[in-house]
Amino acid sequence: YIFRNKYWIWDDGAEDKRHKIDTNDLHFPAYFLWGTSSASYQCEGYGDLGKVDSNWSDWEAKTNPETGLPRIKRGQKCGNSVDHYNRIEEDIGLMKELGCNSYRFSLAWDKIESYQGKYNEKVIQHYHHELDQLLNQNIVPMITFHHFTHPLWFEQNGAFLNESNVAIFVKFALDMFQEYQTKCYLWCTINEPEVYVSGGYFQGMFPPGHKSKPDEASLVMKHLLEAHVRIYDNIKKISSSSSKHQIGIVKDIFQFEPYNPLNPLDHYLASILDNSMNSCILNFFKTGKYVWNMRGSQRLEYSNIKAINSNDFFGLNYYSHFHVKFQFNLKQPFKLVHQSNILMTDMSHPIYPEGIYRACMRVRNELGNIPIYITENGIADEADDRRHLYLRRYLYAISKAIKDGCDIRGYYYWSLLDNFEWAEGYDMKFGLYHVDLKTQKRILRDGSKYFREVIKKYI
Ligand code: NOJ
Repeated sequence: YIFRNKYWIWDDGAEDKRHKIDTNDLHFPAYFLWGTSSASYQCEGYGDLGKVDSNWSDWEAKTNPETGLPRIKRGQKCGNSVDHYNRIEEDIGLMKELGCNSYRFSLAWDKIESYQGKYNEKVIQHYHHELDQLLNQNIVPMITFHHFTHPLWFEQNGAFLNESNVAIFVKFALDMFQEYQTKCYLWCTINEPEVYVSGGYFQGMFPPGHKSKPDEASLVMKHLLEAHVRIYDNIKKISSSSSKHQIGIVKDIFQFEPYNPLNPLDHYLASILDNSMNSCILNFFKTGKYVWNMRGSQRLEYSNIKAINSNDFFGLNYYSHFHVKFQFNLKQPFKLVHQSNILMTDMSHPIYPEGIYRACMRVRNELGNIPIYITENGIADEADDRRHLYLRRYLYAISKAIKDGCDIRGYYYWSLLDNFEWAEGYDMKFGLYHVDLKTQKRILRDGSKYFREVIKKYI
């Protein structure tokens, strides 16, 4: 373990030049997709639709009954965000300015089906228009069906806690596939199921805000995985065998490391967390069995052979890692800590490019040499004094993973624009472009220019 977790020694700023890594030593294949990633709720705003109710619009309007505090930092609201819904042409222009040849975005289910059973034709046409504009500019679209948000009626009916709702989501996804299949061939079913589950049913900082409900969490996870398999299966049935369509899940791998590698309790707790966030999903796709080991939860064994091979690609989101430290507290026997002297992002995540390399290798080792898209990776950096270094090091780590045998086919930076970062509101500045929320003016950050340089070299 100690060996595996060794930090790499970089040339860009590291004192020790003896074993330096040359971050200019990059190799990306000609077919590589270079893009940015987004989610409807976080950047679109409402366009001319007026108010649209969703689990998140409802959530951000409420206060936490336990603390009396607003759900979003300082009572911020998403509102019209960065108005991406109205500014598709302008924003595609920005993608072109960077040299991107792909764009990952999600369909706003809340806007498309605000009332159960009735699709809003205007919104359906909006996405046709967006897809046409992307294709006109030779930008390959990648669509996500579920990125944390859904219509309020779906939430009020229990969302994914309720098994019978799985069919409702599957129907929406299949209808959207039929609608847009001639314009899009890359499809993500569900974004970060484990983050949706832990936010909504464990930590309580995402709707529905349930805290420490392991039984609910394990059920919701099971239903999300079931939805994924059903969507995959049905799309394969609908689309002809010669079609290019590729479907995959999007999963974040946040590593949980024992704080003290010599302490078996730190090891044990890290492995429990890794199971509930990572290996329960990876094992499901590897073995067809869903086993969730979280303390106090039921042990569900969901055997479905179709889970094996239910991804044409693995969408990997990578941000960072945590260290798990045992503490004498029955209710909360661990805390998540960071090692000292590590460069951090504004989200308080250590900058740890070695981790994306390890995550790619883990997916490769556990799921066979499956194609991987890095569907998200990015830094919240308001001062813009770490973005350049972040991009340099992470792109190096990805290039190294390719060199060492991973079939990585694309990289999507999160995100093109500053946007609404869920419970953090607008405080986290992930954008390659800074956005002035009053004027909606977009300005390329200096630290982002490296991304443009690299793309230029490889396209
Ligand atoms: C992952 C999520 O998919 C996205 O919605 C979020 O904004 C980014 N991480 C950054 O935290």
